[in-house]
Amino acid sequence: FYYSLEINRYPFFKEPPRYCIKCKLDDRYEKLHQTVLLKLTEVVRMSYPNANLQLFGSSKNGFGAKKCDLDLCMTFEDNETGKDVDQTAVISTLAKDLRKFRKSISNLQPIPQAKVPVLKLRFLLQEFNESFDCDISLYNLLASHNTRLLRTYCQIDERVAMLGFTVKQFFKQCGICDASKGSLSSYAYTLMTLYYLQRCSPPVIPILQELYDGDRPPERIVDGYNTWFFEDLDRLQEKWIHFGANTLSVGNLFYGFTKFYAEIFPFDTLVVCIRRSRDLTKMEKKWTGRRIAIEDPFLLSHNLGQGIEPEMARYIKASIVLGRNRIGNQPENLKKYNSWYDYFFDSQ
Ligand code: CTP
Ligand code: MG
Repeated sequence: FYYSLEINRYPFFKEPPRYCIKCKLDDRYEKLHQTVLLKLTEVVRMSYPNANLQLFGSSKNGFGAKKCDLDLCMTFEDNETGKDVDQTAVISTLAKDLRKFRKSISNLQPIPQAKVPVLKLRFLLQEFNESFDCDISLYNLLASHNTRLLRTYCQIDERVAMLGFTVKQFFKQCGICDASKGSLSSYAYTLMTLYYLQRCSPPVIPILQELYDGDRPPERIVDGYNTWFFEDLDRLQEKWIHFGANTLSVGNLFYGFTKFYAEIFPFDTLVVCIRRSRDLTKMEKKWTGRRIAIEDPFLLSHNLGQGIEPEMARYIKASIVLGRNRIGNQPENLKKYNSWYDYFFDSQ
């Protein structure tokens, strides 16, 4: 089950990636995000007085940067499940109504016909001279649960967020981290990161959805799916034998990530699935074909790779191989750089 990759060879991978530390979401930016949330709720309530907004995604899941997009989920107080809400109409109305807040809201871009209708906008906090891109969607109820799942994985070990952050940065720089442009979303790459961290040797994180007492997981049903996972991290050490066993640096883990997906993971037959230790085959899911298959941890019918063409799948795999080659060949000119991270991301 666990893959040993001989990845602790390079001493220069030892230092922590300063870039992650510099860009990672901090208290000040978390407060700014909270301010945007409050102000945006105020203006949205002028159109829909019983509306609530909630942050999810990278501003809440531990993988966020200071400047990350704010993903917001809108719900109505008297309607818990979103039944009978015409999401397309709400997004269109909001797009019209918010036009009058020109001083704080710009770049309004409704996408009402999408599978998940969304309103994109930029919100300016004048007093702080900072602006944030926001995506408002409706009744994205499972997203708040997967946000909590990801945050819990980040809380187990600080390297989880740093590796996830590095991986996202890598694919963003390659220009293949945007599901609306035919590649994979940040969320999909984050799931790939967690899958690797569950399977490297020794593993860095457990499979939280499998750590139940007894022979069946408890149930916490949302939208018909079970969103239960082990959350009592104070008890993790007693529940999980590999606790604290992996001491690799983030640099080595990143190298391990590229080696794992370049050399070991059989994209043709298996699904990236973070909810169970047993291999999940494409046959079992009926997700056959050359596409990359990534299962959502709660919405089990959803393949995050379903929108990508075989050509793009090849391109993504080729990028991972190039990443492995670049980081795996000990560079002679590394001395020029402050860290492996600078070396890797410079002139990629
Ligand atoms: N999400 C989801 N299903 C998807 C895509 C996204 O449930 N197919 C939810 C997840 O909760 C995810 C959030 O939407 O965390 C935001 O997705 P995305 O913007 O792709 O990821 P972030 O973690 O926010 O990364 P970034 O910092 O790049 O915005
Ligand atoms: Mg986001």
